[in-house]
Amino acid sequence: MLGQVNNEGRLDPKERHEIGTRVRRPLFMRCLYRASIKKRIKHTAHLGSPQTQRVISNDDAATMQQSFPMNGGDGPHSYRNNSHFQRQDINVSRTMIEEAIAKKLDVKCFSSNPFRLADLGCSVGPNTFIAMQHIVEAVERKYLAQGLKSEMPEFQVFFNDHVGNDFNTLFASLPTERRYFACGVPGSFHGRLFPESSIHFMFSSHALHWLSKVPEELLDKNSPAWNRGRIHYTSGPEEVSHAYAAQFEHDMEIFLSARAKELVVGGMIVFLIPALPNGIPASQNPYCVMFDLLGASLMDMAKEGLISEAQVDSFNLPIHVASPEQMTEMVEKNECLTIERMELVDSRSKLVGPINGKECAMCLRAGLEGIFTQHFGSGIIDQLFDRLSKQIMESSHQLESGNKEGTLLFVVVRRK
Ligand SMILES: C[S@@+](CC[C@H](N)C(=O)[O-])C[C@H]1O[C@@H](n2cnc3c(N)ncnc32)[C@H](O)[C@@H]1O
Repeated sequence: MLGQVNNEGRLDPKERHEIGTRVRRPLFMRCLYRASIKKRIKHTAHLGSPQTQRVISNDDAATMQQSFPMNGGDGPHSYRNNSHFQRQDINVSRTMIEEAIAKKLDVKCFSSNPFRLADLGCSVGPNTFIAMQHIVEAVERKYLAQGLKSEMPEFQVFFNDHVGNDFNTLFASLPTERRYFACGVPGSFHGRLFPESSIHFMFSSHALHWLSKVPEELLDKNSPAWNRGRIHYTSGPEEVSHAYAAQFEHDMEIFLSARAKELVVGGMIVFLIPALPNGIPASQNPYCVMFDLLGASLMDMAKEGLISEAQVDSFNLPIHVASPEQMTEMVEKNECLTIERMELVDSRSKLVGPINGKECAMCLRAGLEGIFTQHFGSGIIDQLFDRLSKQIMESSHQLESGNKEGTLLFVVVRRK
């Protein structure tokens, strides 16, 4: 363990700053950075953030990325105890993942043992364990169906997330009955994580909508994309949406090009990502509406003097909700990858009962508390998410009607 953590696995802020400084400044990292600064640098980000990390990609460019891990530990606000919506999406997609493996994964062309599988943006569990188990079982069935029982491989699963992820909680809760060898891979998936042609199957759920950074123009008072009084693009001018879309496309291009190098020929990536149908405005997407509600709660708190408006103006969520059209364009740009299946899934409609404001707010808190605390301090968090919970109930009609359109994009991509 790096330092003292509270019962939710979060570091005390003083400790976090010290560790952040240590993480930012080890000598070998400084040397690598100096060496690579002469080469092409693909990203820059704020150096001041305690959780800023440096990721070295294969082309030796040091990429500075922001990282805001989900709430760690096992407490009442942890991701572990507040991620059932994401789990529902993994369960709803299970049959589609099994079909992709049964019909499109050509295991006969894989010569190497073990079969290597990666979950990108795995967080702390338990969702990742459920997904990995489904995939291992489906691949085993595929080997049997192809008459390859004697060549059944052993499985190795790589759990990837940012270095700030609570890997202690993840590994402490690894299922004892698992049929795979487990490894942790810390680092950003917006860069290389694995050796060339080494992975057979990659999975990512509810992670690719996180941008590597907030687009800079959102903070520039002289830019038409200055996002004053809002924290997302949902109800902003089109310049703001364009800035988000451009950052997403840049990040996806890097993501896909790294994965194309790491996958073996015939290998597969399946990802589940919050999405909105083509041509539908963000204001009709439930995720985007909730981000807007959070922004409105913050502005109310600013009017009440609890925070300043300048604090709201200088904060934006680095999250983009893509459309199938946008995703298709991104994958088709990469000559090594081909789309095998892409469809919007309406998983929320399978939830029983009306929308529950408290439950939704808890779920968002488990994912976003870190990023809000870093900017606004921990003092406003309880109040912010209490307000959100009430606002969700007041907007429940809008949120429920948005759900019917399908809010999850299921994508299967194969390495040519
Ligand atoms: C909402 S959680 C999803 C966790 C899990 N996949 C699930 O479906 O429950 C998103 C995770 O993606 C991780 N993440 C976001 N951006 C990332 C990046 N660039 N590299 C690696 N992990 C990232 C976050 O740290 C977080 O743990």
